[in-house]
Amino acid sequence: MTTTVLLTGAAGYIASHTWLALQQAGYRVVGVDNFSNSSPRVLERLAELAAAPIEFEKADVCDGAALDEIFDRYRPGAVVHFAAFKAVGESVSQPLAYYRNNIGGLVNTCEAMQRHGCTRIVFSSSATVYGAPEQLPLREDAPTSATNPYGATKLMGEQILRDVGVADPAWQTACLRYFNPVGAHESGRIGEDPRGTPNNLMPYVAQVAVGRRERLSVFGDDYPTPDGTGVRDYIHVTDLAEGHAAALRWLLDNSGSLTVNLGTGRGYSVLDLVRAYEAASGRSVPYEVAPRRPGDIAACWADPAQARDTLGWQAKLDLDRMCQDSWRWQQLNPQGFNT
Ligand code: NAD
Ligand code: WQD
Repeated sequence: MTTTVLLTGAAGYIASHTWLALQQAGYRVVGVDNFSNSSPRVLERLAELAAAPIEFEKADVCDGAALDEIFDRYRPGAVVHFAAFKAVGESVSQPLAYYRNNIGGLVNTCEAMQRHGCTRIVFSSSATVYGAPEQLPLREDAPTSATNPYGATKLMGEQILRDVGVADPAWQTACLRYFNPVGAHESGRIGEDPRGTPNNLMPYVAQVAVGRRERLSVFGDDYPTPDGTGVRDYIHVTDLAEGHAAALRWLLDNSGSLTVNLGTGRGYSVLDLVRAYEAASGRSVPYEVAPRRPGDIAACWADPAQARDTLGWQAKLDLDRMCQDSWRWQQLNPQGFNT
């Protein structure tokens, strides 16, 4: 029988790509979002890409009554929970909004699941739970810590799910620690559409390449890395989406829970990414070196072995492909979904 999957935060960047991956894998997907950080226009694009009508309910995951109606109506067998706020700097200035939405939303979703006998959840965690790494690559058993309220919500989210699993072993949870998701669907029809000034590197670079912004500020060139700029494990959003389908399959075919890194295992510097983007776009990306961004770490990349061994999943797409697909999206949609 086809499993119905409730996708929260479904109109967002990573969830919209995951929606297609789950449909491709044969699941019935029901999306939920309150559009607090996304556009309803993504739904038209998804229907077009899926070549089928899509099922969607506008709702806030902090609203228990709304979730009850959705559970009654669709009877999902699993939840893939993306809904959350994600801006690190904003979480420092508005911690309560982050705790309410990210922790309140997760607890509320789990309570609705409990009321409706749904006990499988895939949770969007983050490499941010590793804090400042002591050793690279990062394995799942590395020490964890939070350096800002956003990171604390991910660390706490993982803890909540572990505790729920201890209290009731029927629960199966998958905490997926994403490294740095970038790129876009190869069609150029969906992609990342940040509101205001992008906080993250690739969307900023994309807006410089397309002429929306003058130059990139490179936050520090005196880190202990090969070229002095920060090193990260960038992962194509399509690979990441497939990682969710693999994790869900695992939950359905096994007993127990898991916590895994979703990364490529390779680190690239800010300047590596700038050069790759210039090559992909044929545009120059002017930059200037600026002071380090407070809270940034020098380098971070995954040991992806556990995802390979447990889920049979590996990232396939390289940095050039991440830049090419980001550029196609950026060029076709210079103002994002408002183009
Ligand atoms: P996004 O902002 O594009 O997507 C999140 C979606 O959730 C948005 O569509 C937003 O409208 C929705 N949402 C937020 N609060 C909601 C609520 N209370 N009710 C219903 N919908 C709500 O972000 P994204 O980059 O796609 O991230 C998805 C998830 O992955 C988040 O949990 C984020 O913390 C996590 N994550 C993201 C990254 C990253 O770099 N993008 C890295 C690690 C983890
Ligand atoms: C990458 C590199 C910057 C912008 C953040 C969150 C993390 C996770 C992913 C959700 C760093 C440099 C950036 C710019 C720059 N999100 N940079 N100029 O910091 O690794 O991770 O997003 O879970 O929690 O902290 O990603 O893309 O912001 O930065 O030089 O304008 O690019 O210093 O070295 P980061 P990023």
